[in-house]
Amino acid sequence: MGNTPNKLFVMEEKRLVINYAEYGSLAEMPEGERRLMECAMESAHKAYAPYSKFHVGAAVLLADGTMVQGSNQENIAYPSGLCAERTALFSASAQYPEQAVVALAVVGHFEGEYTEASPCGACRQVMAEYELRYGNKLTIYCYLKGGRIRRIEGVESLLPFGFGADL
Ligand code: THU
Repeated sequence: MGNTPNKLFVMEEKRLVINYAEYGSLAEMPEGERRLMECAMESAHKAYAPYSKFHVGAAVLLADGTMVQGSNQENIAYPSGLCAERTALFSASAQYPEQAVVALAVVGHFEGEYTEASPCGACRQVMAEYELRYGNKLTIYCYLKGGRIRRIEGVESLLPFGFGADL
């Protein structure tokens, strides 16, 4: 009651730094990486997105060089649809379970133009599973507004403190 000494809480402030790189355009990418992004761009035109009209294309690169496309698949019961990234990853895993997933590219297409797409939280969690499963980091390429391309090395940079990371 007024004379209780204040308890001293010790809390450490911490900072998280996320590294990523950007290419100024598709033309600036090394050929192999550019081909993966172009594969994702082509895939966007195969999307089934009559509800959002936002077409997303993804392409997954496997250790042996195989590229697997995925696009968003929507449903009249909205939550039943699936993002392009998970469509690509699950398709790759279902067809080539022995091949490690090494990279994934993603791009949006809306009103006649390519545009930015960044993986949602659920897709990030799924990507993390493939890193865990195959024991290698994934490189993620995201098409940005204006045609720049972001390159991220490892899902940890997209999903810090993710579930399972330290189990
Ligand atoms: N979508 C993807 O396929 N990937 C993303 O990275 C973000 C969102 C889809 C889900 C839905 O079909 C549409 O884009 C609009 O949210």
